[in-house]
Amino acid sequence: MSGGRVATARACANIALVKYWGKRDPALNLPAAGSLSLTLDGLVTVTTVAWTAAIPHDTVELDGRPASAKDAARVLDVIEAIRRARGISAHCHVRSANRFPTASGLASSASGFAALVLAAFHADGGNVSARELSVWARRGSGSAARSLFGGLVRMHAGLRADGEDAFATPLTTAPAGFVDDLRMIVAVVGGGTPKSHGSRDAMLHSAATSPLHDAWLALVPRDLVQAEAAIARGDLAALGELAEANALAMHATAIAARPAIIYWQPATLAALAEVRALRARGVGAWATMDAGPHVKVLAAAADAAAVAAALAQVPGVDRTITCQAGPDAAVALGPDEPTGP
Ligand code: PMV
Repeated sequence: MSGGRVATARACANIALVKYWGKRDPALNLPAAGSLSLTLDGLVTVTTVAWTAAIPHDTVELDGRPASAKDAARVLDVIEAIRRARGISAHCHVRSANRFPTASGLASSASGFAALVLAAFHADGGNVSARELSVWARRGSGSAARSLFGGLVRMHAGLRADGEDAFATPLTTAPAGFVDDLRMIVAVVGGGTPKSHGSRDAMLHSAATSPLHDAWLALVPRDLVQAEAAIARGDLAALGELAEANALAMHATAIAARPAIIYWQPATLAALAEVRALRARGVGAWATMDAGPHVKVLAAAADAAAVAAALAQVPGVDRTITCQAGPDAAVALGPDEPTGP
């Protein structure tokens, strides 16, 4: 990509330990409650944005191919909002590549929109804080706001109607070494096939029809308090138990929607059983699942190899990916020279 103003950014996916599931404003994509996540180093999106008069219309390329109309529309909604806010008249060329299976519940939209907004503002010479960028990323995908930051991250639901206070901030209260010792072992189920229900529509359907939705929204603030307390005292077991229970409550809410939204496959349940078996053998391992069939297991570094080996044996688990805490989203100066936003 050449000509115009160009920047490349990279961002890591994140996995929520206290989930975002519900919107207070669907149009502005404002979350109904806060959430808390771990950014993962192993799941990276690299996105280049060029603002240029040299092309006749905006173009979006994902993983080497023109994006589908639906994916392009989501990307260009955010690009258009940035164009208006910055008074940009040029067209936009977006090229994005995921280093993990797309649309499979591995949260590629989180890293994708975080890298997109960082590259788009940087290409325009914009000096914007990571917190402000998280507000922009949130418009594309609620979880993307969290991918601007490395390590443990807290998303704030905010109260304002314009959503300017619905941003992410890094959570820096963990004792020294706690975040570095965290591992997330992703058990990939279902061959990385696209997920059955996109999270955006699924959340709206769940809020409109699930009899458990209000109870879920009442639970999240309590879980956030407990998760933050566990992090502040460096208590991985308490954090893991809380994260697993919170994920199951989110899925229960979706399963109770009418008609049901069920992301799990038989291998998802088999992997969950394996996590319980690991715990029964004294290995600290706690599961979480998102809008797809994969199981992500939180563990300490010392247990990661045992957890990965146990999950790899589960019938239907295609492979495992062991991740540790990833860095802040960054502008890439060259292929291997990222710098902070
Ligand atoms: O930000 P979205 O629309 O991709 O929704 C994310 C939803 C979950 O992954 C299920 C939960 C979360 O907090 O990441």
